[in-house]
Amino acid sequence: MQILQEQISALAVVEYEKNPTPNAQFISFPFRNKQRQGEQLGNFLSCKNMTNTIRIKRYSGSELQKYIPDLACLRIEIFRDFPYLYDGDLEYEKKYLQTYIDCDESVIVLAFDESKIIGASTAIPMRYETDEVKKPFINHGYNPNEIFYCGESVLDKKYRGLGIGVSFFKEREAHAKQLGGFKHICFCCVERAKDHPRRPADYVPLDNFWTKRNYVKHPELTATYTWKDLDEEYESPKKMTFWLKA
Ligand SMILES: CC(C)(COP(=O)(O)OP(=O)(O)OC[C@H]1O[C@@H](n2cnc3c(N)ncnc32)[C@H](O)[C@@H]1OP(=O)(O)O)[C@@H](O)C(=O)NCCC(=O)NCCS
Repeated sequence: MQILQEQISALAVVEYEKNPTPNAQFISFPFRNKQRQGEQLGNFLSCKNMTNTIRIKRYSGSELQKYIPDLACLRIEIFRDFPYLYDGDLEYEKKYLQTYIDCDESVIVLAFDESKIIGASTAIPMRYETDEVKKPFINHGYNPNEIFYCGESVLDKKYRGLGIGVSFFKEREAHAKQLGGFKHICFCCVERAKDHPRRPADYVPLDNFWTKRNYVKHPELTATYTWKDLDEEYESPKKMTFWLKA
């Protein structure tokens, strides 16, 4: 079953490679192969009503406004899981996403199944980020003006393993290239104890996924973000480590 999933994922990625539309910024994933195999495999596809085409599109600035409520809900749902365990708040999420609407140079990549948002990925030039984000870079001799900061990626579980996460990186990197002037692209991830009580037994870190995309972990570049975990009464600091691509 695992091997078949990899084959299906490869098909999706290949189709994406065949149909890059960097300027149109509107990508279709033809999933006909996947669906045919899904039917052959009976219950392999957990999502029975998945359509043939997943659309992926970049948005910037005010055109994002109408998607904010759905996007906020998706983020809250996905980030409840380990390692984030985020006890999300709709109002906070809307405020957070407003940063992207207010910045014309930001990008949010949205993935749709029909009209439903099933995934999203954010990025913004680091110069528009908070001091908290910029500080470790300044302390280690980087110029924040030369860094493009990828925020988060979230994808409905039913649609994972199809290459959509890879396309999120491709789209954000393409946006950074279009803007120009960046020496590095970065993102950060939360550090959790190996024996964290909420760590699922089958949890696989995304390190290999990121390494394969040529990102390198920089343990010296850390920041502290604050949020409330599901089992916490109050917000608490979380250590974040940055990954960089030259
Ligand atoms: C990160 C995320 C968007 C990846 O989406 P995805 O569409 O499933 O990823 P892809 O199908 O493009 O997979 C790309 C590769 O990563 C691997 N991969 C994907 N999800 C994985 C996971 N949870 N654990 C381990 N490997 C994973 C795939 O096997 C694939 O490997 P390959 O490059 O060798 O082919 C998705 O897992 C997600 O929403 N996770 C929860 C939120 C999160 O942790 N976001 C990242 C930090 S903000």
